[in-house]
Amino acid sequence: MPELDLPQRQATDTLMLTGFWYRALPADRVHRNQLHKATLLEIPLVIGRDRANQPFAVRDACPHRGMPLNGGRFDGENLECPYHGWQFDVHDGQCQLIPSLTHDQTLKVDRIYAGSYPCEEQDDFIWVFIPDSPPQGAGFTKPAEAPDPAPQIAKFSDKYKLAYLQADMPVSIDHGIIGLMDPAHGPFVHQAWWWRTQHSIHEKQKNFEPIPNGFRMSAHTPSSNSAPYKLLRLYADADSINTTIDFILPNIRTETIRAGKYWFSSLTTVTPISRNQCRIDVVAAWNLFRWVPFMPELLKFVFGKFVEQDRRTMETQAEGLKHNPHLMLIDDADRPAKWYFQLKAAYLESKRTGEPMRHPMPGPVTLKWRS
Ligand code: FES
Ligand SMILES: [Fe+2]
Repeated sequence: MPELDLPQRQATDTLMLTGFWYRALPADRVHRNQLHKATLLEIPLVIGRDRANQPFAVRDACPHRGMPLNGGRFDGENLECPYHGWQFDVHDGQCQLIPSLTHDQTLKVDRIYAGSYPCEEQDDFIWVFIPDSPPQGAGFTKPAEAPDPAPQIAKFSDKYKLAYLQADMPVSIDHGIIGLMDPAHGPFVHQAWWWRTQHSIHEKQKNFEPIPNGFRMSAHTPSSNSAPYKLLRLYADADSINTTIDFILPNIRTETIRAGKYWFSSLTTVTPISRNQCRIDVVAAWNLFRWVPFMPELLKFVFGKFVEQDRRTMETQAEGLKHNPHLMLIDDADRPAKWYFQLKAAYLESKRTGEPMRHPMPGPVTLKWRS
């Protein structure tokens, strides 16, 4: 029985999950003593690096009268609002100076905070932690603390290469994510003569298991029509190659392919920018072909093609979604999408009740589809 689902009708707070790290900007775009704008979960941010190159993220609205801070002066430590010159420490957001105060005025400046967010650099990206109750514009609060460090790509040797690519998708985070995990669009969206054609479609069977906050496509020999697999076959016995693909809330897909001492690993995120806008960031690390100088470019070319095909598809899909159509998720090809919605619901429910999260998957499951 097809089940109906209406992800685009969800309210914002069930659409975009707080309490997680999100990728904000590629690290190589953020330079010392420069200010950059970014938006995460409809929160405007100003992002930069201090004198010691440490990244920071502050809400891009002054707690005094809401002036965007990204146009203010920054001395490598404090950020000055361009309206009345209040100054804020960029890491904890604490107000340092209110120029209009006279000596006998005793307002406690240090009790005022601009909203600031935990911020880390990891695998070529600046990550920002968006807490459950975001620092308010007029918040007199210290920044929240992140319970864990920002996610990292799994790496299996000291030396490796790293590359990233990004694409903006004009759809909600939910459509971005289920588009990413959907196995059935491959033969139709990702055709290329050097890759695969519609005729290569065949029946597949994959085992899935629950993991904390997500699910795993259990270690298996990758399907013969996947690109990394084709490359890896040049290095290793087909039987020795295995791959694991995980999805974990709120938005992370990791893929690890190992063949003896060689490995390829990626961490892809779909980041909610606003209700109808998300961004996909693919970051890959590998120790294959390290000696081949153009390999990062080749990988970027191959992955870039896929991501561009997905982006174009979602851009067109957004046209159809404007009319608010009824949607459906069908077994088994859409089962991962259902788990995603169930995981989100379970996460929100556990936050509401304070009870441990109840995983929607009872145990390992085998799914079959043609792709
Ligand atoms: S609005 Fe920022 S100092 Fe007044
Ligand atoms: Fe795709």
